Amino acid sequence: MSSLLAFMHQRFMLSKFGFLHLLLLLDLLVDARVVNIFQRGSTLSESCRCAPGDTCFPSTETWAELNTSVSGRLVNVVSSAAFCDSLSVSGCTESQWESSVFRAGLPGAMNQVNWEQDYVSHPPSVCFQNSSITLPPNITQQCSQGSGDVPLFAILAESGQDIQTGVNFARIHNLRLVIKASGHDYLGRSTARDALLISTHNLQNISFVDEFIVGGEDQGAAVIVGSGVPLNMLYTATKAEGKIFVGGTAATVVPAAGYVQGAGHSALSPSYGLAVDNVLELTVVIANGSLLTVNEVENPDLFWAMRGGGAGSWGVIVSATFRVYPTFNAVFCQSNITTAIPSTMGSIATIHARHIFDLDPFRAGQYFWVVQTGITLPGVGELIAMQVSTYFPNNASLEDAQAAYQPFLDDVGKLTNVEVANVCEVVLINDALFMEDDVVGNDLVMGSRLFPETVYRTSPDEIGDMYTALLENGTQQILGNMVAGGQVSENANISSALNPAWRSAKTHIIIVNSWNDTFPIPEVLEQEQIFSTGMQRAALVALAGEDSGSYTNEADRLEPDFRVTFYGPNYERLEEVKSVYDPTDLFIVAAGVGSERWDEAGFCRV
Ligand SMILES: Cc1cc2nc3c(=O)[nH]c(=O)nc-3n(C[C@H](O)[C@H](O)[C@H](O)COP(=O)(O)OP(=O)(O)OC[C@H]3O[C@@H](n4cnc5c(N)ncnc54)[C@H](O)[C@@H]3O)c2cc1C
Ligand SMILES: *[C@@H]1O[C@H](CO)[C@@H](O)[C@H](O)[C@H]1NC(C)=O
Ligand SMILES: *[C@@H]1O[C@H](CO)[C@@H](O)[C@H](O)[C@H]1NC(C)=O
Ligand SMILES: *[C@@H]1O[C@H](CO)[C@@H](O)[C@H](O)[C@H]1NC(C)=O
Ligand SMILES: *[C@@H]1O[C@H](CO)[C@@H](O)[C@H](O)[C@H]1NC(C)=O
Ligand SMILES: *[C@@H]1O[C@H](CO)[C@@H](O)[C@H](O)[C@H]1NC(C)=O
Ligand SMILES: *[C@@H]1O[C@H](CO)[C@@H](O)[C@H](O)[C@H]1NC(C)=O
Ligand SMILES: *[C@@H]1O[C@H](CO)[C@@H](O)[C@H](O)[C@H]1NC(C)=O
Ligand SMILES: *[C@@H]1O[C@H](CO)[C@@H](O)[C@H](O)[C@H]1NC(C)=O
Ligand SMILES: *[C@@H]1O[C@H](CO)[C@@H](O)[C@H](O)[C@H]1NC(C)=O
Ligand SMILES: *[C@@H]1O[C@H](CO)[C@@H](O)[C@H](O)[C@H]1NC(C)=O
Repeated sequence: MSSLLAFMHQRFMLSKFGFLHLLLLLDLLVDARVVNIFQRGSTLSESCRCAPGDTCFPSTETWAELNTSVSGRLVNVVSSAAFCDSLSVSGCTESQWESSVFRAGLPGAMNQVNWEQDYVSHPPSVCFQNSSITLPPNITQQCSQGSGDVPLFAILAESGQDIQTGVNFARIHNLRLVIKASGHDYLGRSTARDALLISTHNLQNISFVDEFIVGGEDQGAAVIVGSGVPLNMLYTATKAEGKIFVGGTAATVVPAAGYVQGAGHSALSPSYGLAVDNVLELTVVIANGSLLTVNEVENPDLFWAMRGGGAGSWGVIVSATFRVYPTFNAVFCQSNITTAIPSTMGSIATIHARHIFDLDPFRAGQYFWVVQTGITLPGVGELIAMQVSTYFPNNASLEDAQAAYQPFLDDVGKLTNVEVANVCEVVLINDALFMEDDVVGNDLVMGSRLFPETVYRTSPDEIGDMYTALLENGTQQILGNMVAGGQVSENANISSALNPAWRSAKTHIIIVNSWNDTFPIPEVLEQEQIFSTGMQRAALVALAGEDSGSYTNEADRLEPDFRVTFYGPNYERLEEVKSVYDPTDLFIVAAGVGSERWDEAGFCRV
């Protein structure tokens, strides 16, 4: 059985409805940063953060004082491979390695392990799960504290005060600071070498209010969540209250952390908008150490920026307040459509595009993911699958939903050399969106574009041709998220830093490029860059348009014009807000606001 198939089977066993979470089949993006001209640990200039060996780097005693002031919650950090290798810390099982639940609690662990590697230094600093992998003779695996692109120390925060202590320490000692809630980040923004990490994973409070007041005005029912609460915990908690919120389809993504700062899309977005449209308040530790309440009335410029201005650039969120709605049943339909012919999958994509508006009366959300399965049938060829998961919200009837969905399946069924399977069922929305765990622990990067609604109306044939061209070029996965339109468009007059491309979009299309640890490093670097250097990015832009934009949370860290692609017309104002709340660039992440002033590692000013 191919490893991809094995992944798929694991995924299906874990997910309640056999939902093929294709994001999890592949892996991560590694850091293709420009080679740093500064030596690690040098005392070159104040334009760099302090690293071990620098005179400005805190002494062992100073770290111990920090540890005392956070009640012993300072820990040493190593990569997940180092942690799991019996040679070093503890050993762990294969199922732990692949578990995002496990990785959320392990400070050095990212979900995509390529982010823990430093492929570009001379020599590279890598630590793989399999310590027996053959490396070039002049490279050895580096698995100790300080190796790879993994932080040195982490504060496992349990309060806003722990966070304030950590932020003040990093600012005073001129340290590289990173923040992690779950480690899901597809751009590797929650890890960095020689850094102090603040983990908010342990901030798991959840409380409900019937009337949430902002500036004297009742905003209605809401939930207040800590910045460590994962989606699956919140789906369970809201279910117990008869409520639902706008959340994504993942187990451990943290709504009150990276998710909301990017946009936060959901299968419920066509009905209820994005997470940025539903967040009422944030509490945030900013660079000067103050804990601020941030909403439409208090610090409104920061509230504007943190709704779409990108994760990790503003401060450390302690908690967020989100609107909640009465829960409801959904009709959940799940289809598998397979063929072995790329151009036939292109035709399926055209039919999909023609029928996408059939779902509008329901304000349904949908994931339609195309993947080269790695399964080859004799006389047929390698199977390409489109897995379609559709959520019809708000107590839609099974008959009505099926009647709206069936014409798409019927038209696909008229093609030759295509297999179609479909099941629909009625299920409580909290259960439909709940996932026990995400299967992770691999190497992947992605690149993406928001596709305008007008493209679906005018150019379904060109959409199909794009799929054919991508597949014929060897693209392994094309993820489609129909999580815009409807209320997302209707919320266009909400003033936030959300890239306005979202308001005219219908879908977000993501291409995943992946590899494994047996790849020679030059081939890894090629995979990291292929979205832009090959034909993928050009193919998306040719159809979506130059100004179509890309969702920062599911994107390529190496986007050449990231300021425009991720932030559209908002970049200048975002820079102004950052200069007020983070004047010394304590919070710098790849492709984030202000990152153009720093090298790829966020360590030295350029
Ligand atoms: C399996 C999977 C499914 C996904 N599904 C969806 C989906 O349905 N909808 C969607 O919109 N997105 C989805 N995403 C993308 C997701 O929104 C991003 O990966 C997001 O960055 C995760 O945020 P996090 O805080 O959990 O991750 P982390 O990796 O911990 O952090 C991500 C970013 O947020 C910053 N950050 C973390 N904690 C804090 C904090 N407390 N305060 C301030 N900044 C912080 C970090 O610096 C980093 O820049 C999915 C991702 C995965 C891997
Ligand atoms: C911090 O203190 C705790 C409790 O004394 C200790 O267990 C831990 O090892 C210390 N952390 C570091 C990085 O030394
Ligand atoms: C490894 O050694 C080879 C041959 O000596 C050299 O060409 C290459 O640059 C070295 N690689 C690194 C990463 O040092
Ligand atoms: C580790 O790598 C070695 C060498 O490539 C291989 O023989 C072995 O099967 C691998 N082990 C695992 C558990 O993947
Ligand atoms: C979490 O809730 C407990 C009990 O209500 C409270 O004491 C604590 O301060 C809360 N923690 C945070 C970080 O809000
Ligand atoms: C930190 O900055 C905020 C916002 O500019 C300001 O209100 C606050 O007084 C500052 N706090 C300190 C301790 O300087
Ligand atoms: C769904 O049905 C429940 C139970 O009848 C009802 O209370 C709720 O208002 C309905 N919700 C919607 C959005 O129609
Ligand atoms: C789709 O394929 C997956 C994986 O093989 C399976 O678990 C699921 O039941 C299939 N769904 C349908 C409707 O056949
Ligand atoms: C994919 O497209 C790129 C850029 O056009 C081209 O160089 C490459 O050869 C193509 N690969 C395949 C397998 O068609
Ligand atoms: C946006 O416009 C709608 C009507 O089109 C109005 O009800 C709503 O209050 C407006 N919202 C804002 C934030 O201006
Ligand atoms: C790694 O990828 C290569 C090339 O796709 C493949 O041949 C090999 O089987 C993979 N190895 C593992 C352990 O998955």
